[in-house]
Amino acid sequence: MHTIGILGSGRVGATLAGKLAGAGHHVTVGTRTATRPDDWTGPDLAFADHRGTARDAEIVINATPGDSALERLAALREDLAGSILVDVSNATRHGADGMPGALRYPGSSLAEHLQDALPTTRVVKTLNTMLYSVMADPCSLSVPPTAFLSGDDPDAKVVVSDLLGDLGWPPEWIMDLGGINTARGTEALVLLVPHVLRSRGFAPFALTLAS
Ligand SMILES: NC(=O)c1ccc[n+]([C@@H]2O[C@H](COP(=O)([O-])OP(=O)(O)OC[C@H]3O[C@@H](n4cnc5c(N)ncnc54)[C@H](OP(=O)(O)O)[C@@H]3O)[C@@H](O)[C@H]2O)c1
Repeated sequence: MHTIGILGSGRVGATLAGKLAGAGHHVTVGTRTATRPDDWTGPDLAFADHRGTARDAEIVINATPGDSALERLAALREDLAGSILVDVSNATRHGADGMPGALRYPGSSLAEHLQDALPTTRVVKTLNTMLYSVMADPCSLSVPPTAFLSGDDPDAKVVVSDLLGDLGWPPEWIMDLGGINTARGTEALVLLVPHVLRSRGFAPFALTLAS
C-alpha cells in the first residue's frame, strides 16, 4: 500500500484515483480549490491543495495540463523531494481546433525538464500514449496495448510497474524504454492523437508495439 497524491481531478485524475484507491492505496487528490470539484466523477476520497498533496505522498501523479506542468511542479520542489513523480501528461501547443498541434518542448520532453527541475525527485513517464479510460482498463482493447516507461531510476520504475499492475497491466505489456530522455519519443506520439480522434472519434485506443 502506498500513499499516492494525484494532482488534477479531470478525466485522468478521476480514472486513476478510482482504480488505485480500489486497489487499497491511500489516495489524495490535489485540486486548485483544495476541495472536491462539483463535477468529480471518482469515488469519495480525500482532497487537498497541490502543495499538501505533494508533501504527504510517496508517489505523486501529475494529471494536470502538460503545457504548464513544469512551472507548477517546479514550484513544489521541496514538497516533492524524495518522492516518485509519475508524469502522465502531454505538453503541447494547441491548434486552432483546441487539439494538440505541436510539441511544447521540441527536441526534448516535459519529463526531461521535470527531472532537471526536480533533482531530488525520481521522475517516471508513462501512460501518456493512450486515452484515459485505457490507463485503468488495458484489457478493454481488442489488441494488447503497451505501457511505455521512461525514467533514470530503476527502483522507481519497479515501483511504478507495480502500480501499473494495480491498474490492470500485465507485466508483459509494460515496456521499459530506458532513461528519462526516452520520454521524448513517447511524448512526440501525442502528435498522432488529433488525427486518430478525428478519424475514429473518442473510442478508447492506445499506441502499442507489435512484434
Ligand atoms: N484525457 C486523456 O485521454 C489523456 C491521455 C493521455 C494523457 N493525458 C494528459 O493527462 C493530463 C490530464 O488530462 P485530462 O484529460 O484529465 O484533463 P482534464 O480533464 O482537463 O483535467 C485536468 C485537471 O487539471 C486541473 N487543472 C486544469 N488547469 C489547471 C491549471 N492551470 N493549473 C493546475 N491545475 C489545473 C483541473 O483539476 P482541478 O480543477 O481539480 O484543479 C483539471 O480537472 C494532461 O496533461 C493530458 O495531456 C490525457
